[in-house]
Amino acid sequence: MTDDARAALVAAAWRAREGAICTYSKFAVGAALRDSAGRTWTGANVENASYTLGLCAERVAIFHALTQGARDFTEVVVVTDTATPTSPCGACRQILWEFARGATIVMVGKAGVTTIATMPELVPLPFDESSL
Ligand code: THU
Repeated sequence: MTDDARAALVAAAWRAREGAICTYSKFAVGAALRDSAGRTWTGANVENASYTLGLCAERVAIFHALTQGARDFTEVVVVTDTATPTSPCGACRQILWEFARGATIVMVGKAGVTTIATMPELVPLPFDESSL
């Protein structure tokens, strides 16, 4: 992916973050995915008074993308206003392993500080279809 395309995806994630409904944690997260067709899909976290029902930005974005027919994600960007970039939680890693196994995961914090990882780095001992 070109630097410009990466920057556009990061910008889309920051814009998506503005839609976060993080009433309880006040921890706003934005996510942006790029699919094999070059399309961008975004999401933000949504919380609920029944805390466990909240959903992370990554899953909001990928479930929307998948149900619109998107597949073969090449990049997943996660943005938070934190000194250390935020890694996807365990539940999101499992979903990303299923549907974005080949993607590069780009985690961006305050002032653009960035960590990049592959899915096998985030999920070294996966449970998936080969386990069944
Ligand atoms: N959260 C995300 O949306 N993505 C992550 O990668 C980590 C955590 C959300 C869930 C919850 O709404 C808030 O951040 C605090 O955990």
